[in-house]
Amino acid sequence: MNTKFKAFVVREAENGVFKSAVEERKVDDLPIGDILIRVSFSSINYKDALSASGNKGVSKNYPHTPGIDAAGIIADSSSNKFKINDKVVVTGYDLGMNTSGGFAEYIRVPEEWVLKLPSNISLEQSMGIGTAGLTAGMCVKLLKQKNSLIEKEAIVTGASGGVGSLSVYLLSKLGARVTAVTSKIDAHDFLISIGAKTIINREQMFDQFRHPLSKSRYDIGIDVVGGNVLSGLLTCMNREGIITCCGNVAGADFKTSVFPFILRGNSLIGVDSAERRLSEKEWLWKMFASDWNIDCLDKIYRTVSIDNLESEIEKILKGGQIGRVVIAMQ
Ligand SMILES: NC(=O)c1ccc[n+]([C@@H]2O[C@H](COP(=O)([O-])OP(=O)(O)OC[C@H]3O[C@@H](n4cnc5c(N)ncnc54)[C@H](OP(=O)(O)O)[C@@H]3O)[C@@H](O)[C@H]2O)c1
Repeated sequence: MNTKFKAFVVREAENGVFKSAVEERKVDDLPIGDILIRVSFSSINYKDALSASGNKGVSKNYPHTPGIDAAGIIADSSSNKFKINDKVVVTGYDLGMNTSGGFAEYIRVPEEWVLKLPSNISLEQSMGIGTAGLTAGMCVKLLKQKNSLIEKEAIVTGASGGVGSLSVYLLSKLGARVTAVTSKIDAHDFLISIGAKTIINREQMFDQFRHPLSKSRYDIGIDVVGGNVLSGLLTCMNREGIITCCGNVAGADFKTSVFPFILRGNSLIGVDSAERRLSEKEWLWKMFASDWNIDCLDKIYRTVSIDNLESEIEKILKGGQIGRVVIAMQ
């Protein structure tokens, strides 16, 4: 099949500079795989911005098309599980990392990466959720396994971003009282509208922290930021408090001591959503199609075209994104 299609391609220019442009590619040049998908929508995650800016910890080989999320319609299938015209979603694994990703009108992937979308979630809505939603969902699942969330004091860092905003929504929907930490004054109304009860400015939050322990305040935390924010959060959890840690926009290293763990019985749980078993991802999608239905999803995402990708990537790299950004590919 020698169909031509549009793709966002990142190329390594001289002197370690990376340049991107929308280019024409051929389906024949996609990697070998069981399923060819005509991508209807993708979305932007922080990892995509790293891949698009030449971060070799994410994508080793260029030219490359990023996009760790894709939702679309099967155009060709050699799998018994899927047939042409099925509506499907792919998130994570190697998509958009070293496999040509969702910022293109076509992807070809192994069947082990592909899930049929629940009928009450549209292709566009699925990308409003995307990897950010699955990550927030995974954090919530792990927190809930330990204890009920009802009336719990919860804190979410990087609250206005993708994982953060979906975490605020889910925790609040499940009965927690959510404090949202943000750097953005213009995101306060948004955060209140998706369920935050209290908003703390990021700088104001640092005033609350004393190492090795500060006044205890929160039962549960979802931290997407890492670095000194996670260091601070670890000082102010209540007895048996739990933090899930899933991101590093403020840095990979953090400082702590044994005291939160041995004096307050706190736990720190790591979350990786990209490499989760497909059955776990399927469970999360079913939850978003039922008990976790996001009734205000249209407030959380906005849709842009492939031609806007470059400016959106710049914005997310500067920490400026509010909510989620879906990319319409067709
Ligand atoms: N483990 C996993 O499976 C997994 C999956 C998805 C994402 N992630 C990670 O989670 C993180 C967030 O991803 P995302 O797609 O939600 O990104 P995002 O939309 O850009 O959200 C990140 C938010 O963090 C805050 N922030 C940015 N820079 C910061 C800094 N230097 N210090 C403190 N806060 C800062 C900003 O929110 P405010 O302005 O509101 O503070 C920003 O909107 C990334 O590190 C990503 O790699 C991990």
